[in-house]
Amino acid sequence: MRAIQIVREEGPDSALQLTDLPEPPSPPSHMLTPGRGLLIEVHCAGVSFPELLQTRGQYQLKPPLPFVPGSEVAGVVRVAPEDAPVKPGERVMAFCALGGWAELAVAPETMTFVLPDQLDYAQGAGLILNYHTAYFALVLRGRMQPGETVLVHGAAGGVGTAALQVAGGLGAHTIAVVSDEAKERIAREAGAEHVLRADGPWKDEAREIAAGMGGAEAGGASQGGSGAPGVDVVLDPVGGERFTDSLRSLREQGRMVVVGFTGGSIPEVKVNRLLLNNVEVVGAGWGAYAMARPEVSRQIDGALRPLIESGHIRPIVGAHHPLERAADALRELDERRALGKVVLDVRPAGVQAGSSG
Ligand SMILES: NC(=O)c1ccc[n+]([C@@H]2O[C@H](COP(=O)([O-])OP(=O)(O)OC[C@H]3O[C@@H](n4cnc5c(N)ncnc54)[C@H](OP(=O)(O)O)[C@@H]3O)[C@@H](O)[C@H]2O)c1
Repeated sequence: MRAIQIVREEGPDSALQLTDLPEPPSPPSHMLTPGRGLLIEVHCAGVSFPELLQTRGQYQLKPPLPFVPGSEVAGVVRVAPEDAPVKPGERVMAFCALGGWAELAVAPETMTFVLPDQLDYAQGAGLILNYHTAYFALVLRGRMQPGETVLVHGAAGGVGTAALQVAGGLGAHTIAVVSDEAKERIAREAGAEHVLRADGPWKDEAREIAAGMGGAEAGGASQGGSGAPGVDVVLDPVGGERFTDSLRSLREQGRMVVVGFTGGSIPEVKVNRLLLNNVEVVGAGWGAYAMARPEVSRQIDGALRPLIESGHIRPIVGAHHPLERAADALRELDERRALGKVVLDVRPAGVQAGSSG
């Protein structure tokens, strides 16, 4: 089977190699569920920040070289245990953690879900990592409620667009922060009610918007009582210098949810800021937490499905690249050019399950 391997840790340009590998053994076995697994004929694979970090040896999951990266896929089940919740021939989306940038991938049953009819393979390949993270961060960690106001940084990126759709679908008001005009369009496409520029006075603008929304609905920004107006929740996949202003943009008892550090630096917080305005900084690390708790993934899948059916969730796929051009895909993320989700087309469109590889 055709697969992309990371062969050295020198960044996206020279780390990747297209290889012909033997198919995974049958019955398949996934590292999370030794002795069990689903074999999936991959149509599309997601491209995300962890893979970029893996090309530099900077990600926490660090298998020995060479290895096939690729944390999420959408395709068709080829082999499944008899009692698995999905059957051979079914369209699925799966989080496999590694091994997705190949014509065949092995995924754990616990992280594999039927692909809803409303979504194509590319959208399916962009769903689990970003939307499960967004739900986990906003709802399970950030305790977001309908009617609250949520500010999303990096809002035209994979996690950002997902967060806008999940927040909007659950009845929250959304403010996006982005760095340019093309990203502003994407954030609006993802349903942002307000879009602010990262290099402008976004903190003051966000507080003004929140003040306008305060009290309009049950639970909104007015819940801060006598405190200054501000947003209820900030979701931050970017980090860096804007962190302190994010804290300042919160209302009393607001929550800042830390998701990632695409801006490059890990911010430090003076904790007196938390005390002064009664705000919280909450970490959201979805992957390891969810992989160890299948019931959490089922809960999140169950919560997202109605939002897919109602049309609130439609992963925004910015660019498709063929498998062999995976380095181009990673460069988009590295150079801050990615719009929405970037995917790899592993099988040409229209190729039926089982007819290639
Ligand atoms: N905690 C978790 O469980 C979890 C799960 C999934 C992903 N993540 C993390 O979340 C972060 C976002 O992932 P993603 O897939 O959404 O990435 P993405 O699609 O590339 O979007 C990231 C956004 O970050 C902003 N950014 C600011 N400075 C940047 C820089 N120097 N280089 C690149 N982007 C920069 C960009 O928005 P602007 O240009 O508009 O500022 C960009 O759109 C990553 O750090 C990822 O590892 C965490």
